[in-house]
Parts: sequence; structure tokens; C-alpha cells
Amino acid sequence: MSSTKDAIASNREAWNASASQHRNSTAWCRLIESVHRPDFSCLDPTLTGLLKQLDLVGKDIVQLGCNNGRETLSLCSMGARSVVGVDQSSAFLEQARELASQSPHSPEFVEADIHALPASLDERFDVALITIGVLNWMPDIKAFFSHVAKTLKSGGVLVIYETHPFLEMLKPQSSDPWRISSSYFQTEPFIEEKAIVYEGEGETNGVTSYWHIHRLSDILGGIIGAGLQLREFTEYPHSNRESVYDVYEDAEMQVPMCYTLLAVKT
Ligand SMILES: C[S@@+](CC[C@H](N)C(=O)[O-])C[C@H]1O[C@@H](n2cnc3c(N)ncnc32)[C@H](O)[C@@H]1O
Repeated sequence: MSSTKDAIASNREAWNASASQHRNSTAWCRLIESVHRPDFSCLDPTLTGLLKQLDLVGKDIVQLGCNNGRETLSLCSMGARSVVGVDQSSAFLEQARELASQSPHSPEFVEADIHALPASLDERFDVALITIGVLNWMPDIKAFFSHVAKTLKSGGVLVIYETHPFLEMLKPQSSDPWRISSSYFQTEPFIEEKAIVYEGEGETNGVTSYWHIHRLSDILGGIIGAGLQLREFTEYPHSNRESVYDVYEDAEMQVPMCYTLLAVKT
């Protein structure tokens, strides 16, 4: 079992090694074509509605785990005063800067491991946003949330729109996608040596990545332990994951697929 530090470093290498494949995708072409619009947004109706409710106009926002910055740029379109995207992958931040160069907005991108954020980000933000596919890369969810909480001003809000931990038990591409395939209480991470891609299977590239399973109680405990007060928590039956997960949508027996959460720094 790797140490926390080794897992974080290995995940950085794995994301960097996968970046060129993302840039060669149709999703990238669509982004490059549309990001010049002042009202560009790739956020879905669920997250858009939640952020509108918070009213981002004039606010300082940080997105932790911003990847290629497509969502960071979408936050700019919602009237924020300043927007910062943080990610530890230099290769994805290069793509984020390329997208930003085609956009009328100027977010700041910071290359950092969320567990070692620069002090310049401390208590600077009204909103800290975490979206799909970030929490499971974190080996120690308790420590992670304590670093996230540090970025918020007093009264600032943590917003999470993540995939539901229930889905980690299912394998959408197996012959029976409804079979429970792993334990909800699994403590060891899933280990991969394949490129990290959103569509299809990544090719084996020998770079190890660690996908950690966090129960809902670990996530809520981490947030509360970081001194944040839970304000809102909603579970949804729609998917915000890769398209292979669409198999679970609109089923007779509906499973929880994603959630939104608001927590305030008091
Ligand atoms: C699935 S992507 C996020 C995608 C984003 N929600 C979107 O839809 O565009 C997860 C990101 O988390 C970043 N990440 C993983 N571990 C990190 C860490 N310890 N510190 C900072 N970023 C990290 C990865 O580099 C990757 O870009």
C-alpha cells in the first residue's frame, strides 16, 4: 500500500500522462469552438441552478481540482469578481491556459496539490467549488477538507457536486451492471495502470493511479471535522459521470447517482 504522499504524486503523474489524449478528443474540439463566448458554460442545469441560488456576482471563487479549466471559465461567465482554478497537473493547466487564451475571461490558474496550497489562497474565497471526479483521488479525505476549508473566508460556502459513493459498488460495463461488485466499505483504493479517460478504455501506460473509496459518512465527517456547517445536501437520480453510467438512469429501481452539498465556514 502506498503512502498518502506517494499516491498523490503517482496520481499527478497519471493525470499528466493522460492529458494529450484529452486534448485529442472531440470534447476538446467542442470546447475550443465555444469558449470564446462571454456566456460560455459547460455546467449542467443542476449545478447552474445551485450556483445561481448562491449568486456569484461580485464573489471570489476557487475551484479545487479544476482540470482543463472548462468549469472555472464557466464560473467567470456567472459574474464572479475573481476566479481561481487549482490543480496539481501541469499538463491539464496548460490546456486550461490555452482555453482561457481563447476566452474573454481571465481566471488565475494555480498549480498545487490541494494538500499543500500556497498561503496566498488562505481565507480568500466566498465560494470553494468541487465537482465531479475529484474526491476519489484524495487518499485522506479528512485532511483534504481541512485544506479546502482554509481557502474560505468566514461565511464562505463550500459547494460540492460529486458522483454518489453508491455508484462505486457497480460496474456499468460488466455483463450484469446491477450486480454489487465491490463493498461500500472498501478501504483499499482501486489501482489502475491505464490512461485516465472519460470515454472508452484508457490504454495501459504503466503509470499507477489510486482511486480511493469514501463513504458518504466519511465525506460528511470530513466536512464537519474541518469546521464547516452543513447547510444543504441533496441526492439525485441523474448521472453526472461518464456516459457508460447512463445505464442506471431512468430505471424502475432508481439508485442515487450524484449529490450536491453546501457547507458554510462559520
Ligand atoms: C476528474 S478531474 C476533474 C474534472 C472536472 N470536474 C471537470 O468536469 O472538468 C480531477 C482532477 O483532480 C486533479 N487532482 C487529483 N488529485 C489532486 C490533488 N491532490 N491536488 C490537486 N489536484 C488534484 C487531477 O489532476 C484532475 O485534473
